[in-house]
Amino acid sequence: MTHLVTGGSGFIGAALVRELLSRGVHVRVLDDHSRGRPARLADLVDAGRIELVQGDVRDAAAVHAATKGIEVVWHLAYINGTRFFYEKPDQVLEVGVKGSLNTIEAALSHGVRRYVLASTSETYNTPTHVPTNESERLMIPDVTNPRFSYGGGKIAAELMTLHIGGHRGLETVIFRPHNVYGPDMGFEHVIPEIVERIVEVSDGLKAKAITLPIQGDGSETRAFCYIDDGARGAAIAGLQGNSGEIYHLGTNCETSIADLVIGLGRALGVEITIQPGPLQVGGTRRRCPDIAKLSTLGYTPEVGLDDGLARSARWYADHFLAKRASRG
Ligand SMILES: NC(=O)c1ccc[n+]([C@@H]2O[C@H](COP(=O)([O-])OP(=O)(O)OC[C@H]3O[C@@H](n4cnc5c(N)ncnc54)[C@H](O)[C@@H]3O)[C@@H](O)[C@H]2O)c1
Repeated sequence: MTHLVTGGSGFIGAALVRELLSRGVHVRVLDDHSRGRPARLADLVDAGRIELVQGDVRDAAAVHAATKGIEVVWHLAYINGTRFFYEKPDQVLEVGVKGSLNTIEAALSHGVRRYVLASTSETYNTPTHVPTNESERLMIPDVTNPRFSYGGGKIAAELMTLHIGGHRGLETVIFRPHNVYGPDMGFEHVIPEIVERIVEVSDGLKAKAITLPIQGDGSETRAFCYIDDGARGAAIAGLQGNSGEIYHLGTNCETSIADLVIGLGRALGVEITIQPGPLQVGGTRRRCPDIAKLSTLGYTPEVGLDDGLARSARWYADHFLAKRASRG
């Protein structure tokens, strides 16, 4: 029983690989390492526990070669990170559309049983209900804004999963992660960006009370899901989910950005006063998933926000402090 994880050297992918191994699954990874890092999987490769294939999901031949002998495809490869949606929307869409079509077509031609897609809450963008369940309508608020290359590519991927892959005989499951975070998640995310600013404004954590400018007034909300819970929830959805179904993955702990910033400061011993600033166009005020459907499969988040933020804040603070030290 071999499963293919595209994007497997990425943040969620690498954790999912370990989760699948712990469940007795043999894993092959396909990643171009454009954002992922093989080092995340080095111990598993060295121990001969996984196969690591370097390749681009836009390359149909590479995807076909990697799909031979596979029972389940987990398609996670994608260009993540808000900055990139603005800087290279063409590549975001190309990886989204070609990568999904290539992996679906390869799965169909190699007799794969199940195809699991990592989608996103960005597909529904601004929800009509919070907490938001899987029946929420999907939308692109402004087709001229490159930010929506990310959500648009995922909407296309969801449609292709269900109506090409599913229609032609694949079992399909879609899970939509909501703000999965943790140490080593990359740098183009709200948590590392805030920690970096705390480290800079506090002069390397020397000041114990600071005023920190933020985007928006801090009342915007998200629900933050620690990586261990994210990987376990993804595995539960993909392995046990019903074919043709979508599962929202995250926690139901809706948290304001102000509380997030103050919590990260607390974890680092810095008291923060927030200074509101303008919100980026295309930002969404509230987001929190309804996870009842995934809970029926046995999923419960286990890592509390304070604990998860402390682990993440420390990891990133150490990184930024080391960077400052090397600058002299
Ligand atoms: N982290 C989150 O909170 C979150 C939220 C919603 C959705 N998701 C989705 O979950 C998946 C994993 O996200 P992540 O946070 O681990 O991001 P990530 O950037 O760490 O992982 C994505 C991986 O895809 C790889 N990749 C990119 N382009 C590729 C290509 N052309 N060919 C092969 N590999 C390629 C990257 O190298 C990377 O390893 C993505 O599909 C993402 O859209 C994540």
